[in-house]
Amino acid sequence: MSSTPSAPALYGGTANRRVTVRDILSAKERGERWPMLTAYDALTARVFDEAGIPVLLVGDSAAMVVYGYDSTLPVTVEDLLPLTAAVARATRRAMVVADLPFGSYQGSPEQALAAAARFMKEGRAQAVKLEGGHRVAAHVEALVAAGVPVMGHVGLTPQSVNTLGGYRVQGRGEEAGAALLADAKELERAGAFAIVLECVPADLAAHVTAQLSIPTIGIGAGPGTDAQVLVWQDMAGLSPRTAKFVKTYADLNDTLTGAAKSFADEVVNGAFPDAAHSYS
Ligand code: KIV
Repeated sequence: MSSTPSAPALYGGTANRRVTVRDILSAKERGERWPMLTAYDALTARVFDEAGIPVLLVGDSAAMVVYGYDSTLPVTVEDLLPLTAAVARATRRAMVVADLPFGSYQGSPEQALAAAARFMKEGRAQAVKLEGGHRVAAHVEALVAAGVPVMGHVGLTPQSVNTLGGYRVQGRGEEAGAALLADAKELERAGAFAIVLECVPADLAAHVTAQLSIPTIGIGAGPGTDAQVLVWQDMAGLSPRTAKFVKTYADLNDTLTGAAKSFADEVVNGAFPDAAHSYS
């Protein structure tokens, strides 16, 4: 009797092809938890791909961690396209998701499709992410109908920081919790393949996760989501300030400071370059 081969795990599975939307939905069916990281350049994208991270997000957080702005609002399609293309070129297995920046999709489903098409054609992304629930459902439907996989994003949506009144926890209280669940369900109905839940009480995030057949990806949403995402510079200890929900797994700030100082000291005292690092 032949047995059906079991699907490879999303994290740590075989690396002979790109992760697809089907793989991600199968992981939800299996109850498998998985990690997602942001990436903005070729070298770190390659490291995360080889570490087995199945989904890499070229986030509009690039506005802050790459371009040095104080919010995600200023970054443009032109700013994010080359970063997306670099991440796509450097990876073999990870699904590359491009964040649609503020102002590039809210206007209409047609505007969203035009922006998404650029990220798929020029950026070589395999999916896009956009922020909002009910208000972008028609946009999600149009993208999915055109063949663009869409990741939703509800809860704290940083592109709306000015209407939200700051970076604060969303969905607290019965009414706000029900509205967030309704938004998530509407994104699922519109065809989104996954939804980021940002800065949401842990019990609400777990409840939303149980109500959906597509995976939820938490950031500041507790342990009850299907996946977890962090901005890589936060996760690796490079960001000077981080939110309460961030756990750091390395101290790159100290490591890089030490390397820069050692290099500078050796240049000043003449120890670098030595014979081993010179041509005869
Ligand atoms: O832009 C980004 O990095 C994001 C993640 C934090 C989910 O949207």
